[in-house]
Amino acid sequence: MDYRRTYVRDLFNLSPGTQASAYGWVKTRRDSKGISFVQLSDGSCFKDLQIVVNEGTVSADALKLITTGACVRFDGEIVESPAAGQAVELLAKDVEVFGAADPEKYPLQKKGATMEYLREIAHLRVRGNTFGAVFRVRAQAAFAIHQFFHNRGFHYIQPPIITASDAEGAGAMFAVSTNLQLDDKHQYKLTSNDPAADFFGKPSFLTVSGQLEAETLALGLTNVYTFGPTFRAENSSTSRHLAEFWMVEPEMAFCEIEGNMTRAEEFLKEVIGYLLENSGQDLDFFNPRIEPELLKTLSHVVDSPFERMTYTEAVKLLEASGEKFEYPVFWGTDLQSEHERWLTEVKVGRPVILTDYPKEIKAFYMKENSDGKTVRAMDVLAPRIGEIIGGSQREEQLDVLERKIADFGLPLEPYWWYLDLRRFGSAPHAGFGLGFERLLMYVTGMKNIRDVIPYHRTPGNAEF
Ligand code: 4AD
Ligand code: MG
Repeated sequence: MDYRRTYVRDLFNLSPGTQASAYGWVKTRRDSKGISFVQLSDGSCFKDLQIVVNEGTVSADALKLITTGACVRFDGEIVESPAAGQAVELLAKDVEVFGAADPEKYPLQKKGATMEYLREIAHLRVRGNTFGAVFRVRAQAAFAIHQFFHNRGFHYIQPPIITASDAEGAGAMFAVSTNLQLDDKHQYKLTSNDPAADFFGKPSFLTVSGQLEAETLALGLTNVYTFGPTFRAENSSTSRHLAEFWMVEPEMAFCEIEGNMTRAEEFLKEVIGYLLENSGQDLDFFNPRIEPELLKTLSHVVDSPFERMTYTEAVKLLEASGEKFEYPVFWGTDLQSEHERWLTEVKVGRPVILTDYPKEIKAFYMKENSDGKTVRAMDVLAPRIGEIIGGSQREEQLDVLERKIADFGLPLEPYWWYLDLRRFGSAPHAGFGLGFERLLMYVTGMKNIRDVIPYHRTPGNAEF
């Protein structure tokens, strides 16, 4: 076995007459007039390689095992293909079956499986067309994100996953404790009530955002970004919320809200543009099967400027819209997904950046405007998705920040180091967070956020 073997993706580029081996999993097999036609995938690209097995070339015992889901290697010759949609196929001369898959029991059968069912067999769904494409696009998008920041001199940083401070001040954190153990009856047992006796010597949690730590690194490295898992213990079972999701958080010193907006727009456009250029086969599958007009909308996003408006202007438009919203709109309310969708889909028809939200509905660290009522927040809203990016200019004045932390009813103590940034060499700075899975929903057209991450964590589910 050669680990440098040629991937299926590259077998398509070989000239007829070349001897080659193809490794992968059988998608389908069809028999006609003594010939077996096998569709083989190794996940290296969307297209399956067609393998032609003439009667008598491989043993009857081996042939029996070549069923959907089996893992095999075919050795043979690349030949011109008479079939439509492919220039070449592999004429098999030999086969090795690495792992059979009993057709009576293999859970990923050919057609008609619902997304909900596929979620239950998330360990196998990647072998099908849809999820193969989703996870290839996910990998490409991650690469495009790193490339975007790398090319602009941003430093990739890794904030801690376990932390003692609530970055959003919203209290939606998962506790991390060794004071809680399972007893032999599989019941929880508290070994101590005292956080000081716990593993970290104080209450500790999974991070909701790496922003605060990113700010400390930006005030020294100037431009940094994080790309990692974040956790929210919100009990919301929607198609857009995960308890564990990946976030990309750039943080920039010497940047105000306008620069932050421009950077966010440039970022989304470049990443989407990269995918249009490099994930063509996969996006062609999503368009129109998963989302009609997907490619057209994505190209439109790349080519046209995002609309910018203030929260106050958006509320006026929503109030004047004449729409019957489930949640009423008034100045001071947090916008719901239905409002965000109306603005982006009905009113504007492309992404919208909303700024200057009421301070009460945004996090404590955002810079206050001189009106005393609003903060320099910016949310990027996308059609179909709603909020895809949330960001702000940060409050860089010590006294104002201390007051805001107190106003939000938060303790000052865990933020001592965050406040130090404002004590020593404070600088205007800004940043934002992109929900990686929200971006993936947007570019693939997938309707449920559970279907763009390999294993979703949501209320009631931590399988796999
Ligand atoms: O708006 P959020 O909460 O902002 C922050 O966490 C800031 N610290 C970001 C920053 O300024 N550095 O979250 C940012 C983005 C949202 O716009 C959304 O796309 C995504 O993260 N997001 C979620 N994605 C999936 N599941 C959830 N439960 C999410 N919560 C937020
Ligand atoms: Mg937000």
